[in-house]
Amino acid sequence: MDVKTAHSTYKINHAEMLSWVQQTADLCKPDAIRWCDGSQKEYDELCELLVSKGTFIRLNPQKRPNSFACFSDPSDVARVEDRTYICSRAKEDAGPTNNWVEPREMKARLKKLFDGCMKGRTMYVIPFSMGPVGSELSHIGVEITDSEYVVVNMHIMTRVGVKVMDTLGADGEYVKCLHSVGAPLAAGQKDVKWPTNATTKYIVHYPEDRAIVSYGSGYGGNALLGKKCFALRIASTMAREEGWLAEHMLIMGVKNPEGEKTYVAAAFPSACGKTNFAMLIPPKQFDGWKITTVGDDIAWIKPGKDGKLYAINPEAGYFGVAPGTNVKTNPMAMESIAKNTIFTNVGVTDDGDVWWEGMTKEPPKNLTDWRGEKWDPTAGKPCAHPNARFTAPATQNPSLDEDWENPNGVPIGALIFGGRRSTTIPLIYQAHNWNSGVYLAATMGSEMTAAAFGEVGKVRRDPFAMLPFCGYHMGDYFNHWLQFGRNIPNPPRIFGVNWFRKDEKGNFIWPGFGDNMRVLKWVVEKIQGKTNAVESPIGWMPHYDDLDWTGSDFTRQQFESIMIIDREAWKKELLDHAELFERMYDRLPKEFIFLRELLLSSLWRSPEKWSLEAGE
Ligand code: OXD
Ligand code: MN
Repeated sequence: MDVKTAHSTYKINHAEMLSWVQQTADLCKPDAIRWCDGSQKEYDELCELLVSKGTFIRLNPQKRPNSFACFSDPSDVARVEDRTYICSRAKEDAGPTNNWVEPREMKARLKKLFDGCMKGRTMYVIPFSMGPVGSELSHIGVEITDSEYVVVNMHIMTRVGVKVMDTLGADGEYVKCLHSVGAPLAAGQKDVKWPTNATTKYIVHYPEDRAIVSYGSGYGGNALLGKKCFALRIASTMAREEGWLAEHMLIMGVKNPEGEKTYVAAAFPSACGKTNFAMLIPPKQFDGWKITTVGDDIAWIKPGKDGKLYAINPEAGYFGVAPGTNVKTNPMAMESIAKNTIFTNVGVTDDGDVWWEGMTKEPPKNLTDWRGEKWDPTAGKPCAHPNARFTAPATQNPSLDEDWENPNGVPIGALIFGGRRSTTIPLIYQAHNWNSGVYLAATMGSEMTAAAFGEVGKVRRDPFAMLPFCGYHMGDYFNHWLQFGRNIPNPPRIFGVNWFRKDEKGNFIWPGFGDNMRVLKWVVEKIQGKTNAVESPIGWMPHYDDLDWTGSDFTRQQFESIMIIDREAWKKELLDHAELFERMYDRLPKEFIFLRELLLSSLWRSPEKWSLEAGE
């Protein structure tokens, strides 16, 4: 297949890219090559093709205009962390939290797998920009893939097209992203609805080459390489070299009734309701407060000339978890997915709409489940896969921030870190300073909800919510954060939150969702110097009266109960920190040893069960 004969609506002037595409075609042996231009026509054509292959089901145009549902192969439903590799030249540079194989060895392995892997398929070349095209904060990638599903999802999740090629010019730099579902077709062989390689999957990153190679999966972060692979794993290594941050963070605007807007970036591990928080609707009584969304998953943060930090959302769409999303938990997400949306592994109704657990109390009758079978509600199996997703354009979010595409980014006033913890961690606290904030983020943990990652309910340490996404040694990453703070005159304040604390009966104490606005308001007012805090053994905390309880019946007692600092629980917590630190001791910042010690001694010097009452 000669790249010169490829289908293209534009001229490609980038000689190095042409030669990479040709080499890839020579290896993968596709039947055809198509350069993607990002147009609506291309999107519509490929969706039609997916319908004709049986991959896509066109949903009812009255109910979900221009939307599609599809079901993946049951072996291909989520990111595959155990098949994800950081192949830096030196093993130590990948660190203890990443899988590593010597890059030459990995390249040899992958070369064998990729040889002829696109036979019977079209090879698509997708030039895409992470971040607004042409912004100094943005970076460009080119994904080669043999999956139409990937092309149409990339259309929504990134900025694809001719403008990107124009920006690259004849020799611009880009991240090479190569993807194959790993399912070549013999001559005359009929394709399956969801091609995948059920036995062999590899998600490989070469940080020094700034390149990604993904084989065998067509799902989400495994296949849409702009997201976790590029915007987090590769970008985190670029950020370290160039003095910025690539983070697993949402970005939101918080506007007060006086019209002052503060932007906040927040990191939560997967399955902690990030998309809901990014699209929060304040309780009705919060007159004049408004939340706007810049991004729901990833933030690229760079220091501006004025010493402030500026962030962009490198993505252009939402790849959100569907189950649990409804008009109460996230009306903005529901609006965002009303049309032009791709649904993967949700249930489908008999009138061509979608459904998932938690969308309505009562499931509609006659559902088709994510396996494509008639759903039996009494059989105890979910209708939608727990990791079912929607892919929707950000522009459909009614609360999209007006500056979400500002090429200069938005100024970040506060950083929030939170995990899912039924005990120990209070609802809200502020770290004493940048270093203790970095410590807070580095030691955060979250209880596992999906058996895929380990024992359900067990706390998994997930530093900065970056455990599966940091492209280099985690100890170096901590040092990078500490150094980053030293380099800026007045870094944003750092806060810890926990929406998930439970009482003795196992019930969540905090209502969450819209009520998180109460916490957010305190955060914003705290950095503006408009509210108060009490010093606790672990940082600054609001007193009950520092939070706005308008329209809430949450009592002082309940509040105290989610703010208690229990010495025994914290001693266990600190042992866990030590265990984490031991794993990366060779590159652990010295500061962390002392910060841990400081925490331990202040806990010992405080009451066994420190409470706001006692602390005052
Ligand atoms: C995601 C994740 O899909 O963090 O965003 O797993
Ligand atoms: Mn995420």
